[in-house]
Amino acid sequence: MSKVTVVGAGNVGATVANVLAHRDYIKEIVLVDIKAEMAQGKALDSWQQAPIDFYSTSLIGTDDYSLTADSDIVVITAGLPRKPGMTRDDLISTNAGIVNSVTRSIMQYSKNPIIIVVSNPLDVMTYAAYKVSGLNSNRVIGMAGILDTARYRAFLATELKVSPKDIQAVLMGGHGDSMVPLPRFTTVAGIPVTELLDSETLNSIIERTKFGGGELVKLMGTSAWYAPGAAAAQMVDSILKDENRIFPCCVNLSGQYGLNNVFVGVPVKLGKKGIVEIINLNLNPSETSLLNQSASEVKSMMEVYDKLS
Ligand SMILES: NC(=O)c1ccc[n+]([C@@H]2O[C@H](COP(=O)([O-])OP(=O)(O)OC[C@H]3O[C@@H](n4cnc5c(N)ncnc54)[C@H](O)[C@@H]3O)[C@@H](O)[C@H]2O)c1
Repeated sequence: MSKVTVVGAGNVGATVANVLAHRDYIKEIVLVDIKAEMAQGKALDSWQQAPIDFYSTSLIGTDDYSLTADSDIVVITAGLPRKPGMTRDDLISTNAGIVNSVTRSIMQYSKNPIIIVVSNPLDVMTYAAYKVSGLNSNRVIGMAGILDTARYRAFLATELKVSPKDIQAVLMGGHGDSMVPLPRFTTVAGIPVTELLDSETLNSIIERTKFGGGELVKLMGTSAWYAPGAAAAQMVDSILKDENRIFPCCVNLSGQYGLNNVFVGVPVKLGKKGIVEIINLNLNPSETSLLNQSASEVKSMMEVYDKLS
């Protein structure tokens, strides 16, 4: 049985912990936040849900990192969320400081965890956790692609009036406006989406997906949590259950797609060692140029981070 730590007991972190507790295969979930009482309260609330929803995973909330000792996986959600009018990149200096200190504290008590980063700006924060932790790059993974792809799949399901279950898709690139849509890899129950939708409708769905996070920030005054929390939990599942599921995740590339030392979203296989394989698709020239552009935007943000630290 495994132990999972979730740092940040805010909207996303509490959702990750609650979703994972419902799966009922993890022994212990530790919810850490600088607001210790809030973390305790949310852990207790989730634990009190256990007799109703029938799970045995124990949950504790704390600000004491010694309780995170020997975690198999750590999900980092600590940091400020976006407010209306902010881009993800606006969060870099505040959240870099938070992710750096969280990663240091985690590494004091867990020797070789797998870290899943959720804090924004996602690609750069994943790089920060990688740099500070000193972990092998197959053990530091950013969550963005599953969420972006889920948004795209949900919009397609609405448009086509089909179940979202039947829509398979992959998006690549950075988390944000520079994501790389790949409609030729989108299917609806095995049927290429291009058989079912004209290109104008498909393009408008892709555009809505690129700004899908901003749409929710505008509606709610803060960023989303149900789908982001569920997405991070799905990564934990694939790793702890050694499922080798394929998801788009933010990872450090070392030659794949002709890119080096840059954290961007690409399809990967997730199993018990973290990233088991990076899937190297044959992109066409226009997809390659979109990915290169996305990677160079991330790279310039990584340089901003390097100058900060
Ligand atoms: N990758 C994605 O797709 C995605 C999706 C949604 C949100 N996010 C990001 O996730 C982060 C969290 O979002 P949220 O909605 O849960 O925000 P939130 O404000 O609800 O929660 C953040 C929590 O982090 C805590 N925190 C701050 N500094 C800390 C520290 N040093 N140590 C421990 N905890 C600390 C805060 O006390 C707060 O409880 C944001 O950066 C947001 O932009 C990413």
